Amino acid sequence: MSGAEEPVNVSGDVSGFGRHVMGEGVDLSHGPILYMDDITVSFDGFRALNKLTLTVEAGELRCVIGPNGAGKTTMMDVITGKTRPDEGTAFFGQTIDLTRLTEPQIAHQGIGRKFQKPTVFENHSVFENLELAMKTDKTVWASVRAKLSREQLDRIADTLQLIKLNGEADRQAGLLSHGQKQWLEIGMLLMQEPRLLLLDEPVAGMTDEETERTAELFKSLAGERSVVVVEHDMEFIESIANIVTVLHEGSVLAEGTMDVVQNDERVIEVYLGR
Ligand SMILES: Nc1ncnc2c1ncn2[C@@H]1O[C@H](COP(=O)(O)OP(=O)(O)OP(=O)(O)O)[C@@H](O)[C@H]1O
Ligand SMILES: [Mg+2]
Repeated sequence: MSGAEEPVNVSGDVSGFGRHVMGEGVDLSHGPILYMDDITVSFDGFRALNKLTLTVEAGELRCVIGPNGAGKTTMMDVITGKTRPDEGTAFFGQTIDLTRLTEPQIAHQGIGRKFQKPTVFENHSVFENLELAMKTDKTVWASVRAKLSREQLDRIADTLQLIKLNGEADRQAGLLSHGQKQWLEIGMLLMQEPRLLLLDEPVAGMTDEETERTAELFKSLAGERSVVVVEHDMEFIESIANIVTVLHEGSVLAEGTMDVVQNDERVIEVYLGR
């Protein structure tokens, strides 16, 4: 396989790729999709997460905000198994103990993660990127298109529509704008049908118009999938938020509707400013 087929910009891992249908084992019969309680993560004695407790309901679109270093990315690292907590409980659904699984196992259980920088296969078309994301064996490129079932083609078409790239299906991914690459990567995650999607600063570097379209996309995902979005762009957060969690020094400082957190004195103090 030539280097051209490696994902450019592997800022994170690609272990979530290549799953067929994820999240079949997650038990949502009662209770939340994500349950974290008293999670502590220390780096050389420094507590990046300090007794963090957070619950996300199935179908929810949860926004997480907070100053630099608050622990937002570390929280995602714990959920995806990249970082093991020193203490605390983290469950996906009722029965899946996230602190006992590896990163690939967690991805396979139905948690998809998007890192800040787009990780797409630049030398392949938009269509092929989505097709690849659906494959179990991503090393096989030859004549794959011929083998796609009607149902798979429909899924790709639906995803293209959702990520607003239906006009760009045959375009080389490397030629897309930054925002379009971000959408494509979200589309690639969606092809694996995750139950929970974690998005770290998805609109960073996007134009205002791309940011607005991303807000529409996220709102259309809620309900069917659970989504946790970390962002610093407050205008964007306002446009999508239902419940907002504010992290500060590794713990939840405030949680509630946008209105509630925006008027919280402590949140204004440490993050939003006056
Ligand atoms: N692997 C690591 N080793 C040591 N310290 C770390 C490590 N990962 C994170 N930290 C520290 O933990 C704290 C929380 O970092 P984290 O990246 O989770 O913050 P964040 O809320 O995502 O910030 P930002 O908004 O800047 O992305 C920071 O002080 C960071 O320096
Ligand atoms: Mg971060």
